[in-house]
Amino acid sequence: MKCHCVIVTKEKAEEVRRKLVDEDLLVMGLRIKRDEKNVYFPVKKKVDMDGCFSSMEDFEEIGKKSYLDILKAAGIRPESISIDFIGSIALLRMKDESVAIKVAEALLETNRNVRTVCLDGGVEGDYRVRNVEVIAGEKKTEAIHREYGLRIKLDVAKTYFSPRLATERIRVAKQVAEGSVVVDMFAGVAPFSLVIAKYARPSKIYAIDVNPYAVRYARENVMLNGMAGIIEVIEGDAKYVIKKLPHANHIIMNLPHSSFHFLPDAIGKGDIIHYYEIMERGREKERIDEICGVAREHGFEIEVKNLRVVGSYSPSKQKMGMELYVKPI
Ligand SMILES: C[S@@+](CC[C@H](N)C(=O)[O-])C[C@H]1O[C@@H](n2cnc3c(N)ncnc32)[C@H](O)[C@@H]1O
Repeated sequence: MKCHCVIVTKEKAEEVRRKLVDEDLLVMGLRIKRDEKNVYFPVKKKVDMDGCFSSMEDFEEIGKKSYLDILKAAGIRPESISIDFIGSIALLRMKDESVAIKVAEALLETNRNVRTVCLDGGVEGDYRVRNVEVIAGEKKTEAIHREYGLRIKLDVAKTYFSPRLATERIRVAKQVAEGSVVVDMFAGVAPFSLVIAKYARPSKIYAIDVNPYAVRYARENVMLNGMAGIIEVIEGDAKYVIKKLPHANHIIMNLPHSSFHFLPDAIGKGDIIHYYEIMERGREKERIDEICGVAREHGFEIEVKNLRVVGSYSPSKQKMGMELYVKPI
């Protein structure tokens, strides 16, 4: 089958594959190709990525009866569907929900790892929980997701988790020096804390969340992964909890709809803030000026590094990530 393609050297292939998965650009059901030097990824549209080439290529469809065959037979375009896999649960997002059951059945039939398929109605509320409905397979919403050798247990209907942030988690972990203190202000089931504890050598991580279910799973995940000596999970509002914690080398602020509101609480409590915010496309510079303004009001100056797009959110908005290096004026 002819398809848009991203071509990258073998050395960079895993990094690019993760980015394509995070951005929901990889086409499922087509076999990724390799030659001596390069890897060829089938993608949903023409993609321009640093260090990669794009072209049109022929790809082999996977399996005798693939997920794509089933969708094609039902007249469903795979590009119109977005799927996240969390453990054995597949979360489906699609404009035309009338074909959701067909897609779900195709997934269960062709993917041995999928046991449950849910329709994902989007994240909502203070706890940022997905509005999910089980539409096929086992009637369960709890899963154990594997990421970078960690086991992350969660309930997709009661807690927030996104496998698309895996690249961000490892990226932050790589910046944490041995002996550092880390505060994960909006920790959820603690994936950032777990990846940092495994891949950096922090002395202590404080993982805060206000959702009691997230806190319960975060504590279980700490035990499951043998991190009890490093990660302390605290239930409460980060706005108040952070005041009682020691100064941190790193603060993670992954509450992208309201991070700006909590900025005054984090500034002055950490040296480097890993800041995520959903903002209007093209408003980045203005927002950075506002962030620096808030810091100045509190007696600090900020240097912004690594401004990047973490994901798209809507036609007019995107999720941005940046590191804020904070110093007293
Ligand atoms: C977008 S989720 C991020 C979770 C986690 N960092 C991750 O990457 O999976 C935001 C989390 O912040 C929590 N939250 C919202 N308001 C909070 C507050 N005031 N204090 C602490 N946690 C809060 C929510 O319950 C939710 O689990």
